[in-house]
Amino acid sequence: MLFFVLTFINLVVSVGFARNVLLRKPSTQSSCYDTTCNKYNASLAVDGDSNPNFDYTHCFHNTFEILEDRWILVDMLIAYKIDYVVFWSRDSDSERNEKFIIGLTNVNYFDPTSDRPLRGKFPICGQYPDPPQVSSPHRVNCGNNVTASRYVIAQQYSLALVGFVVCELEAFPREEKIWRHREGMKLSGLTIRTTKARTVYHCVILCLQSTGCSSVNFNRDSKTCDLNTGTVENVTNFVGNQSCDYWQRIKLDSKLIEQNYSVISQKNVLLLKPATQSSIYLENNAPHPGSLAVDGDKNPDIDLGGCFHAGVEPLKEFWVLVDMIIPYRIDYVILWSRKYSVYTPRNDNFIIGLTNVNYFNLLTNQTIRGKFPLCGVYPYPTQPSFGHRVNCSSNLPASRYVIAQQAENAEYGFCICELEAYPMKGKL
Ligand SMILES: *[C@@H]1O[C@H](CO)[C@@H](O)[C@H](O)[C@H]1NC(C)=O
Ligand SMILES: *[C@@H]1O[C@H](CO)[C@@H](O)[C@H](O)[C@H]1NC(C)=O
Ligand SMILES: *[C@@H]1O[C@H](CO)[C@@H](O)[C@H](O)[C@H]1NC(C)=O
Ligand SMILES: *[C@@H]1O[C@H](CO)[C@@H](O)[C@H](O)[C@H]1NC(C)=O
Ligand SMILES: *[C@@H]1O[C@H](CO)[C@@H](O)[C@H](O)[C@H]1NC(C)=O
Ligand SMILES: *[C@@H]1O[C@H](CO)[C@@H](O)[C@H](O)[C@H]1NC(C)=O
Ligand SMILES: *[C@@H]1O[C@H](CO)[C@@H](O)[C@H](O)[C@H]1NC(C)=O
Repeated sequence: MLFFVLTFINLVVSVGFARNVLLRKPSTQSSCYDTTCNKYNASLAVDGDSNPNFDYTHCFHNTFEILEDRWILVDMLIAYKIDYVVFWSRDSDSERNEKFIIGLTNVNYFDPTSDRPLRGKFPICGQYPDPPQVSSPHRVNCGNNVTASRYVIAQQYSLALVGFVVCELEAFPREEKIWRHREGMKLSGLTIRTTKARTVYHCVILCLQSTGCSSVNFNRDSKTCDLNTGTVENVTNFVGNQSCDYWQRIKLDSKLIEQNYSVISQKNVLLLKPATQSSIYLENNAPHPGSLAVDGDKNPDIDLGGCFHAGVEPLKEFWVLVDMIIPYRIDYVILWSRKYSVYTPRNDNFIIGLTNVNYFNLLTNQTIRGKFPLCGVYPYPTQPSFGHRVNCSSNLPASRYVIAQQAENAEYGFCICELEAYPMKGKL
C-alpha cells in the first residue's frame, strides 16, 4: 500500500480554505430598490465592501414584491461544499433580518421568468436563530448534510418587515478540496453509480455532489465515471487498467492547508471559468468553442472534442478570452497544443495578454489586436502535444481576463487544447 501512497500525484481542485468564494461572482435578485436594478442590485452584496451605511451604495436593497420572494442569488461557478455563510447587516432596521434564510442549490434561477417563486423550493444551509444586530456579521453554519452546490441564496424570512438589505454576503467552503490520483488504475467493487462525464473534473464534481462518494474511476476512452463509496484504503481490489485513472480526496487538516496556503494557491485559475472567442470552427456540426480550452482536458487529439479551434475570420483576430472573475497577478501561462507537427507553425509566436477590459460583448468588427497589455509572446517554435510556458512580465497589475491570440499573419488554424494560468505565490 505504501507504494501507492508514494506515487500519488496531488491535484488541487480548488483552494477553498478560509476564502470567501462569493466575492465578485455573478449575482441576481428577486427585485431592486431602483426598478432598473442598476444601482442597488445584488452585485453590491458581493463587492467585497461590507460598509453598513446604505448611502455609500455598497449594500443590496430590494423593493416591494407581490410574491414576497425577497432573495439574492450568487453563482459560485463551481460547486462547493459550503461550511458556513456570513451575512453583513446595515446600520439600521435590524428586525428586518430576523430569521433570514440561507439556501444552497444547483438549480439555475438566473432566468427570472422560470420557476418563480423560489420560497421553500431549495435546500437550506440554515436559518439565523438569534436576534439580528445592526452593522454586524451574522454567521450561519450549513451542517454536515450539504451537498456541493453551485448557487447560494440569501432570502428574507416570509414574515419579516419589507426591505431586505444585504451589505455583504460571504460563503466559506469546507477544506476537503484536494484530490490525488493514480494513472492507469481503477478501484473495483465499491462503485455505487456509473455515469457519463465530459472530463475528470466533471467526474470529481459529480462525486462531490453525491452523498457517500469518496473516490472515482474516470475512464478516459469511454468518458465514464464510476462513483465509489470508499477508497484504496478500504479495498484490495485496486487493479491496473490503461483506460482508467483513479482519483481520491485527501483529508488534510485546515492548519496544514493554512501553512501551505501560498503553495496551494499555485493552481490553474482558468479551469472551468467563462470563456469566449473571436470565432468558432465547426467540424461536421461539432463546434470547438473557447470553453474547450478551459475544460481540464488537455488531450491533444482535436477529434476527441476537447480543443478550442478558431474559425475563418476576415479580420484575422483569432483569440480566446477567459474571465477569471477575480483579478489575479499572473505569473505564467501554459498553452497546450494539438498533436501532429504539421500544425505547429499555426501556433508559433502566439501572444498571451492580460486585461481588465471586458471584451465579452464586442461590437461587430471591433478588434482587440495590439490593444491589450502583454503577459508575453512565446519566443520559440511550438511543438505538438506540448505545454508551452510563457512567463509574464513581472510589472503587470492584477487582471481579470487572460487572452491567447494567434500571431499576426500566422497560417489559419489557431488551436488550443488547454490554456492554464498560474498566479504569483502568495499574491492573490
Ligand atoms: C448592478 O449595480 C452595479 C453597481 O451599482 C452596476 O455597476 C451594474 O451595472 C449593475 N448591474 C446591472 C445588471 O444593472
Ligand atoms: C440538511 O438537513 C436539514 C435538517 O434535516 C434540512 O432542513 C436541510 O434542508 C438539509 N440541507 C441540505 C442542503 O440538504
Ligand atoms: C472505508 O474506510 C473508512 C475509514 O477506514 C470507513 O469509515 C468506511 O466506512 C469504509 N467504507 C467501506 C465501504 O468499507
Ligand atoms: C477497464 O475498465 C473498463 C471499464 O471502465 C472495462 O470495460 C475494461 O474491460 C477494463 N479493461 C481491462 C483491461 O481490464
Ligand atoms: C505542506 O504540504 C506538504 C505536501 O503536501 C506536506 O508534506 C507538509 O507537511 C505540509 N505542511 C508544511 C508545514 O509544510
Ligand atoms: C465587417 O468587416 C467585413 C470585412 O472587413 C465587411 O465585409 C463587413 O461589411 C463589416 N461589417 C460591418 C457590420 O461593419
Ligand atoms: C520561465 O520561468 C521558468 C522558471 O523561472 C524558467 O525555468 C523558464 O525557462 C522560463 N521560460 C521562458 C520561456 O522564459
